[in-house]
Amino acid sequence: MSIVTIVGMGFVGLTTAAIFAEKGITVYGVDNDVKKIKKISQAEAPFFEPELGPLLKNVITSGTLKPTMSLQTAIKNSSLIFICVGTPMKPDGSVNLDYIDKVSIEIGRCLKSANHPVVCVKSTVPPKTTEDIVASNIKKMGGNFGIAMTPEFLREGSAVTDSRNPHLIVIGSNDDRTHNIVEEFFRSVYGQTTRILHTNIVSAELIKYANNSFLATKISFVNTIANVCNRIPGADVDVIAQAIGADPRIGPQFLNAGPGYGGSCFPKDVSGFINYCKKIGYDPILLRATDAVNKRQVCTILDLLRQNLKNIRNKPITVLGTAFKKDTDDIRESVSIKLVKELNKSGARVSIHDPMALENAKQVLGNKVRYATSTIDAIRNASAVILMTDWDEYKSLDRTIFLKHTGKCLVIDTRRILNIDSDKNVHYIALGRSQ
Ligand code: UDX
Repeated sequence: MSIVTIVGMGFVGLTTAAIFAEKGITVYGVDNDVKKIKKISQAEAPFFEPELGPLLKNVITSGTLKPTMSLQTAIKNSSLIFICVGTPMKPDGSVNLDYIDKVSIEIGRCLKSANHPVVCVKSTVPPKTTEDIVASNIKKMGGNFGIAMTPEFLREGSAVTDSRNPHLIVIGSNDDRTHNIVEEFFRSVYGQTTRILHTNIVSAELIKYANNSFLATKISFVNTIANVCNRIPGADVDVIAQAIGADPRIGPQFLNAGPGYGGSCFPKDVSGFINYCKKIGYDPILLRATDAVNKRQVCTILDLLRQNLKNIRNKPITVLGTAFKKDTDDIRESVSIKLVKELNKSGARVSIHDPMALENAKQVLGNKVRYATSTIDAIRNASAVILMTDWDEYKSLDRTIFLKHTGKCLVIDTRRILNIDSDKNVHYIALGRSQ
């Protein structure tokens, strides 16, 4: 059975490593963050992800997942090396390829002693990066290797399930030997009938950008409809989404209107793709609109607040949910954090709550807000409560609870998970539904 190295123990790298190791494959998980490697070695996930804890216990105890800081040790006997390092967004919106650059130079150094492995890029990278940076860096160091690009589609919050059951495996390679090695490996993990699409490297790189840009566009589209609905008495975005989603040409997923997309992928990938298109002389008008609609969604929420609360200065305002979506403690590009910052600027007295992500929120918001210890503690005496993340525990909030703990308040539900009839004390507004 193959021995595999995965470089980069973030969401994609660690989950993928654990899933491969679960199948009995020896997997070296490499990262240069000592704290991360220590935690993983103790079978602890460095971030919250459902199902990952027990899975790590299993593969660390059985010894199939071997966390290490030594790339040299890891790749000495590996036939496949997956690069899963981050490709964050630069301040100008373009993609920061520093980690990709560094790691491929290091792989090149270690490969001198290794035996013709295949290096697969799993990180999201702009077209030509795999060949022009990764392959070129390794080649400069004189190593003997095959090169492939295998994009990843797992979602945070369901990373383990997604990794166990990928809807498609894309293998981008430019030669048959490499393709056969990678295909054989994936078939050994996922079975002979798993769906595999073979393409060249540059198309594989583009598939990931196209995939994420399309989903982001679907969200911005439904948010556009939601904002129209807010202005038309009787209109309801969810009914419209249900109807258009029933059309098989459209499909029901990613039609949940809300505060706008956040997280570590969509904002960065849409922006990185726009930037890339401009570089090659094409103005991607549609993607710019997707991005602009998303960025404006926080203003839509603030407008709803201001229209209904008039002055927000010195008012106690509660934001429920700081994670960019439920079932994660990730606050990267979370619209909720942007909203809290805007509320702070306007002089509101902000309280926030999240079942998992408060510690991460503290890192960026410091002492500018009150951190509530429970949902009830969060809403107590609030003039307005804005629900931003669709955590299951918020679903039980009803009119009686708001009445008891706030006396009188405005509730803005950006995810439409509550079901409250407004009265003179509790004024309920659902984004995407007219009042
Ligand atoms: C996404 C892609 O789904 C995944 O394939 C890729 O590998 C990484 O990026 P992720 O960022 O984990 O995954 O979360 P996802 O569930 O896609 O949600 C992204 C954002 O869109 C969240 O802020 C979410 O709340 C929002 N969203 C999603 C909506 O507002 N409406 C929807 O209908 C779906």
